[in-house]
Amino acid sequence: MQDHTEKDHGNVIAHDQDNALGAQLRDIAQAIAMEAGGLITRLRSAGVTVAASKSSEVDIVTEADRAAEELIVKRLQEVRPHDSILGEEGGKTVTGTSEITWVVDPIDGTVNYLYNISAFAVSIAATVEDNNGPDGRTSIAGCVFDPVAGESFSAVRGGGAHLLTVTKQRVQATDRAEQMLRVNSPRSLSLSLVGTGFGYTPEKRRSQAETLLTLLPWVRDIRRAGSAALDLCSVAAGRLDAYYESGLQPWDYAAGLLIAQESGATVWGRDKSSPGTDLLIASAPSIIEPLHAIVS
Ligand code: IPD
Ligand code: CA
Ligand code: CA
Repeated sequence: MQDHTEKDHGNVIAHDQDNALGAQLRDIAQAIAMEAGGLITRLRSAGVTVAASKSSEVDIVTEADRAAEELIVKRLQEVRPHDSILGEEGGKTVTGTSEITWVVDPIDGTVNYLYNISAFAVSIAATVEDNNGPDGRTSIAGCVFDPVAGESFSAVRGGGAHLLTVTKQRVQATDRAEQMLRVNSPRSLSLSLVGTGFGYTPEKRRSQAETLLTLLPWVRDIRRAGSAALDLCSVAAGRLDAYYESGLQPWDYAAGLLIAQESGATVWGRDKSSPGTDLLIASAPSIIEPLHAIVS
């Protein structure tokens, strides 16, 4: 008979509490991402104004990026006043006292947004510090909401990844159709569809193009959708077999990487351990070795 020591009970209780907190944070991320998604689609139909450029002339920030981040920060502060917030647009980055830092990309896929191409999303993740995690953090819950498709991808660490399809912005029980996400298992790299993305500076793009030149003959095909967050969710949903990119920032991947991992994807960086800004690969486990050998 199994001996349930006090310590075991303690671990079970701690685990249950972690899961309950994770689910709570995921629900917060999802509700706020949906509200911000509604805002950016409304603003999109009124036309897009480029407010500034960042790392290069083509790395833009729109009025909608700023408005969405402002809304997200306001909502997070209302429900989680002690948490820190790291937003891509940084206007209102907040330092709190709890162990949680929210990592926010108000519009991932801004260039698609500018051109009215539908692949853009709101990405919100709750993270904690972790020396072994991507760029020193680990996500414990997160949501990527694609407002055009009405698709909310979400995950809680240890609780799997889910896709909730909403027919209206206002989600009611009758509007819901939720499915659990599972990564593909392709037989070989040559039969795999692989997503990637490019940074905004010419130097970065030159080295990304060289990697692509080596990889392209070895795969079924390549996709460049223009939103890292949605690319990671596509791996989780079996719409891509793998995705890799170098030069991503925490807000690009914080929610999507957790969603990919929770769907069973293997996530590696250059040295096969933690992915991050240097290199991030999220892949069906069956093809990670040959993919890593080429892109690293
Ligand atoms: C970008 C997108 C793109 C990726 C870039 C990101 P942004 O984020 O995720 O797919 O290739 O590296 O910077 O600028 O649209 O938020
Ligand atoms: Ca981004
Ligand atoms: Ca962005």
